[in-house]
Amino acid sequence: MELINPKAQAYAEHFSPQRDPLLNQIEQDSQSHPEKQMLSGPLQGKLLEMISLITQPKYILEIGTFLGYSALCLAKGLKPGGELHTLEIREETAAVARENFKKSKTSNKIILHTGNALEVLENLDKPWDLVFIDADKTGYSDYYRFLLPKIRSGCLILADNVLFHGQVLEEKLKGKNAAAIQAFNELVLQDTSVDKVMLTVRDGLLLIRKK
Ligand SMILES: C[S@@+](CC[C@H](N)C(=O)[O-])C[C@H]1O[C@@H](n2cnc3c(N)ncnc32)[C@H](O)[C@@H]1O
Repeated sequence: MELINPKAQAYAEHFSPQRDPLLNQIEQDSQSHPEKQMLSGPLQGKLLEMISLITQPKYILEIGTFLGYSALCLAKGLKPGGELHTLEIREETAAVARENFKKSKTSNKIILHTGNALEVLENLDKPWDLVFIDADKTGYSDYYRFLLPKIRSGCLILADNVLFHGQVLEEKLKGKNAAAIQAFNELVLQDTSVDKVMLTVRDGLLLIRKK
């Protein structure tokens, strides 16, 4: 389902220009990728960059690297001495992201881990300030439950695809991914230890702040 009016999308992108040539190149290269819809893209990318610039995190965690587009957006707001750790399960996808990171001024701040996110997280203990969840939809609730007790008050968690192509709006949910996203949205809604706001940007972005 096309959730956002394409004209409104193009208009918003026009007034949110992305001037980073590397990001524009990655977006252009992704056009021939069979999973190009996975990329955050210019509008959401700019929003991620803006959130990072406002919050100035020292430690960013990203679950789901793909080609590295959103990691590069988020890294723009890192404090001096800060680190962004991004997790990708597929070696061949991680290899492309690694090449993209090498071309960036922030490459020395980005640490790419390959492997299953939950297993990598077991051995990755950092005082996260900003977390972006954007990997397998069936894992969202597990990532949330794992991270919530470990993060400090004020830490921001962003979760992508929380509208799941409009499938969560259907009365009867079809497929495990839509059901998993619906369960995740309910989990966060019922959690009184966090503030939250769901934005209807792109495929839905949930902003969650630990009280
Ligand atoms: C939606 S894409 C990420 C897009 C990227 N954040 C962006 O906006 O440019 C999701 C990525 O998560 C990876 N992934 C899926 N399951 C995973 C898991 N269990 N652990 C780590 N990465 C996973 C996929 O291989 C894919 O590259």
